[in-house]
Amino acid sequence: MSEKIQIFDTTLRDGEQVPGCQLSTEEKITIARELEALGVDIIEAGFPISSPGDFLSVIGISRAVKEPVVCGLTRARQEDIDVAAEALRYAKRGRIHTGIGSSDIHIKHKFRSTREQVLEQGVWAVKYAKSKGFEVEFYAEDAGRADLPFLARMIEAVIDAGADVVNIPDTTGYCLPHLYGKRIAYLFENVSNIHQAVVSVHCHNDLGLATANTISGLISGARQAEVTINGIGERAGNTSLEEVVMILKKHKDLNMHTGIKTERIYGISKLVSKMMRMPVQPNKAIVGANAFAHSSGIHQDGFLKHAENYEIINPAEVGVPCSSIVLTARSGRAALKHRLEQLGFKVEGAELDIVYENFLIMADEKKEVTDKDLEVLAANIPVLTR
Ligand code: KIV
Ligand code: ZN
Repeated sequence: MSEKIQIFDTTLRDGEQVPGCQLSTEEKITIARELEALGVDIIEAGFPISSPGDFLSVIGISRAVKEPVVCGLTRARQEDIDVAAEALRYAKRGRIHTGIGSSDIHIKHKFRSTREQVLEQGVWAVKYAKSKGFEVEFYAEDAGRADLPFLARMIEAVIDAGADVVNIPDTTGYCLPHLYGKRIAYLFENVSNIHQAVVSVHCHNDLGLATANTISGLISGARQAEVTINGIGERAGNTSLEEVVMILKKHKDLNMHTGIKTERIYGISKLVSKMMRMPVQPNKAIVGANAFAHSSGIHQDGFLKHAENYEIINPAEVGVPCSSIVLTARSGRAALKHRLEQLGFKVEGAELDIVYENFLIMADEKKEVTDKDLEVLAANIPVLTR
């Protein structure tokens, strides 16, 4: 039977940490409502102690959404947990996301501490957050570079302390997919109480592997994926929601599904990009401007014969209005004829050859030939008639 993967969206927390992407409380509430309509299971609404604005945003989002769990981030500190609990008090279902570093590099150079001390602090934080009456998720920061036996010990201890979800972040985007998957598998094999918690994957994209690592972690048994819209986030970003969701949808053999209404993906991608003033790169999978654009002659011909020759996703499935055929000097006769027909011009055989020669001269001068350009071409070529 297909297993449900929980989608934990951190666009409003890890995504919003990007310089220049800061949002007002109103804007965050608008995005949170769209995330709810999209069908995400958990919204990480902010880091309440970080600023009064974030505190108010977590309150506003807790009031505004009904279905998703609302989550607030904390460090493993009493004041952070107190403020998060206060901000989440209106949430129908609230979650405190607390944690501490787990790699030796973080323990030594960030916390200037020892393995034993951070483990103790993590356990204390989980117990304290639990005492506030919320669901508790524990993050073992930099788990991607942590010593595995120590990580397993830490995870076992925080589950014993009451953690409902354990997050195994590849904070620095360092891991290779098969090794990140092995880390998750190791925890399933070596943490005796692992089935008492949901294992979550949270991957960064420093080496362009965030999505691959997330999928690898899910294959190894994780059941929650932490993602952002358009993959925005610290440095090179986080795993992108649209990629994970569509991979699980397309690869039915993985036997996993999400509750995401995929036809809403493109709309929320545009909204987040606009509100965060963060353009989406044109070749971004699923939501980039070129994700459903066909420009070379061979591809255009194949696509026009049967869309599935070159498209594994129907654009309507993710809310993209339609595929596009871009006319350039690399386009062939099939695409030119198709576009001319859409504009009402009929042209075949030798006459198409004449039009095509003229088209190529124009296309060599311009990067892209638009419908307007084709009208100009038609006005100058007597064989082109409507
Ligand atoms: O990347 C990371 O480790 C994080 C944690 C705070 C969950 O964002
Ligand atoms: Zn992160």
